[in-house]
Amino acid sequence: MKCVIPAAGLGTRFLPITKAQPKEMLPVYDRPTIQYVIEEAVASGIDDIIIVNGKGKRSIEDHFDRSFELEESLKEKGKFDILKTVNEISNLADIFYIRQKKQKGLGDAINHAKRHIGDEPFAVMLGDIITKSDRPCTKQLIDLSEKYNSSIVAVEKVPNEKVEKYGIIGGSEVSNGVYNVDTLVEKPKLTESPSNLAIIGRYVLYPEIFDHIENTEVSVGNEIQLTDAMAKLDLLYANVFNGRSYDIGNKIDWLKTSIEFALEDDEFNDVLLDYMHEIVK
Ligand code: G1P
Repeated sequence: MKCVIPAAGLGTRFLPITKAQPKEMLPVYDRPTIQYVIEEAVASGIDDIIIVNGKGKRSIEDHFDRSFELEESLKEKGKFDILKTVNEISNLADIFYIRQKKQKGLGDAINHAKRHIGDEPFAVMLGDIITKSDRPCTKQLIDLSEKYNSSIVAVEKVPNEKVEKYGIIGGSEVSNGVYNVDTLVEKPKLTESPSNLAIIGRYVLYPEIFDHIENTEVSVGNEIQLTDAMAKLDLLYANVFNGRSYDIGNKIDWLKTSIEFALEDDEFNDVLLDYMHEIVK
């Protein structure tokens, strides 16, 4: 299966950090955000990845490319562990890049991948969310998409105050945690929300979606929304993600995720905990 990762946004929520660097390259603990997403894709069996990028995103390409100078230098210095890590990044998957010249929204970004995708179901993975689970989130979706012969999105229950930050689904539960979706609303007011089940940026979509995107008008945020195009699909399921997701699309949650991931690293756990106790005092 192929996968599309939209990475053309301006990262306005992270200014000024993102003035001259893409938000997809913001580090979460020890690696850029987009690397976690690509690692999830690869762990889900995806090896053909399309990144839809825009102006000022060259560092994403460089990150997943080989860097001969760096490799030579690490070899000379005998730093073979880090050399292995660096080489693994450039061998992760086949990555293709398409440019979105004007930011017209998520729906439009996905539509840029139409010719590369062809006539097969494909995955969409947004970089604002990192997932952790035994079976990768996207793999859970791929398996269910095959079972139900349908497009499917990953969702998670969010508290009332967060409903208006996400695309929200409504529908009937057909088996444990799997919903047949009949309503989709992008960033609804709580009073108009069909449920608390929020789309967490992982999708498997049938190629009909491209026609629907082309027939979708701009809406919330003056953008062509993928959620509006999905609402036109004849069949759509949602899977309550069995795992833990980290929304890093805003500064505070991004910071919390970095700390949490650093605490999971045995090398720094003690030292970081001591430091945190010290500053709390
Ligand atoms: C996008 C989608 C939204 C989804 C969210 C997940 O919104 O439009 O449906 O719930 O990603 O992060 P954005 O965060 O780009 O505003």
